Amino acid sequence: MKSEFDPSEYSLETLAIRSGIQRSQFQEHSEAMYLTSSFIFESAAQAAARFSNKEPGNIYSRFTNPTVTAFETRLAAMEGAEMALATSSGMAAILACAMGLLKAGDHIVASRSIFGASIILFNNILGRFGIETTWVELSDIDGWIDAVKPNTRMFYLETPANPTMELVDIAALSARTRTLGIPLVVDNCLCTPVLQKPLALGADIVIHSATKFLDGQGRVLGGAVLGSAEMIRDKILPVLRTAGPTLSAFNAWVLLKGLETLQIRVEAQSAKALAIAQWLESHPAVERVLHPGLESHPQYELACRQQSAGGAVLSFIVHGGRASAWKVIDHCKIISITANLGDTKSTITHPATTTHGRISQDERDRAGIVEGMVRIAVGLEGLEDLKADLARGLS
Ligand SMILES: Cc1ncc(COP(=O)(O)O)c(C=O)c1O
Repeated sequence: MKSEFDPSEYSLETLAIRSGIQRSQFQEHSEAMYLTSSFIFESAAQAAARFSNKEPGNIYSRFTNPTVTAFETRLAAMEGAEMALATSSGMAAILACAMGLLKAGDHIVASRSIFGASIILFNNILGRFGIETTWVELSDIDGWIDAVKPNTRMFYLETPANPTMELVDIAALSARTRTLGIPLVVDNCLCTPVLQKPLALGADIVIHSATKFLDGQGRVLGGAVLGSAEMIRDKILPVLRTAGPTLSAFNAWVLLKGLETLQIRVEAQSAKALAIAQWLESHPAVERVLHPGLESHPQYELACRQQSAGGAVLSFIVHGGRASAWKVIDHCKIISITANLGDTKSTITHPATTTHGRISQDERDRAGIVEGMVRIAVGLEGLEDLKADLARGLS
């Protein structure tokens, strides 16, 4: 008889493959996919016991599903979280987190360098429900604290920021936010637990767009909210169960398989990204390259301390503004022109007119998203092929 799996005994590589497995009576080796909307009960009394939480177990897949639970358990083990809840997309994770922590009249302090849709969610959608956001400079820790109001109930950031690659010292910021008792929420999409563990650095909640590196092959949408069991069970679970932006069992299964190879993919993609960033830095058509693994990055020392590598995403600014940036993009033969990131297929995008195209010019300026900026999310193709693809439009 095998003993219980204790995540604290194992490395990230092992957790990515072995945690979260709950075999059925058939003793399948690979994780089973439970494509069912509901679960049956042996009697009316058992149904009543399940619905009243007197007996644990599955009821309906909007509440729990074994394949989704397996993904949540595995991701929680990898992030070092007590509990995770999976959502239908990264944006659903951010929305569920906000709905769980906030009410009308509350206030958010958020980094102005976050994903464009997150800015719109906070400003336009949460704003309509009476939740106000103050935008601050990501790396300015005093600025975060100065923006706090009596009704502030959430701090929100991404580090590295997408696409500016700016960082914040999570440990230093969380030391300040903790004393205020206001939850610090970190979107760990770009690093994944392979490169950075925000909860260990003092963050209270981690958000994932699982659509990105966790899947890693551009197949499905998904997301997750992770943190202490108390916070996730009491604040986030009621929103998900009732409002319903839960993850499908099929997507959870794909993501479970993605987690198994997360470490080797992220490390290899990150190493290729650094090599491309170094090569771009010496290219005469390039004004500036932004990647946390470069010694020229203004926060290189923090990046070395906080992350185990720079990550697979980099941005660069070409001389000549939008026309030159679009030329680089349009001359790519293998790098795909698409806004997704974290895929084994490298992707290229012009943030100012795509991912950050719906925010105002003023918000773009303040977030540092200039017209000459190009973002690449490096995949697993050959390094020389990728350089040749970029060189065509840069020449
Ligand atoms: C940093 C970051 N967070 C969240 C999201 C939203 O994730 P999704 O597209 O899965 O809703 C994205 C999407 O690009 C992202 O880049």
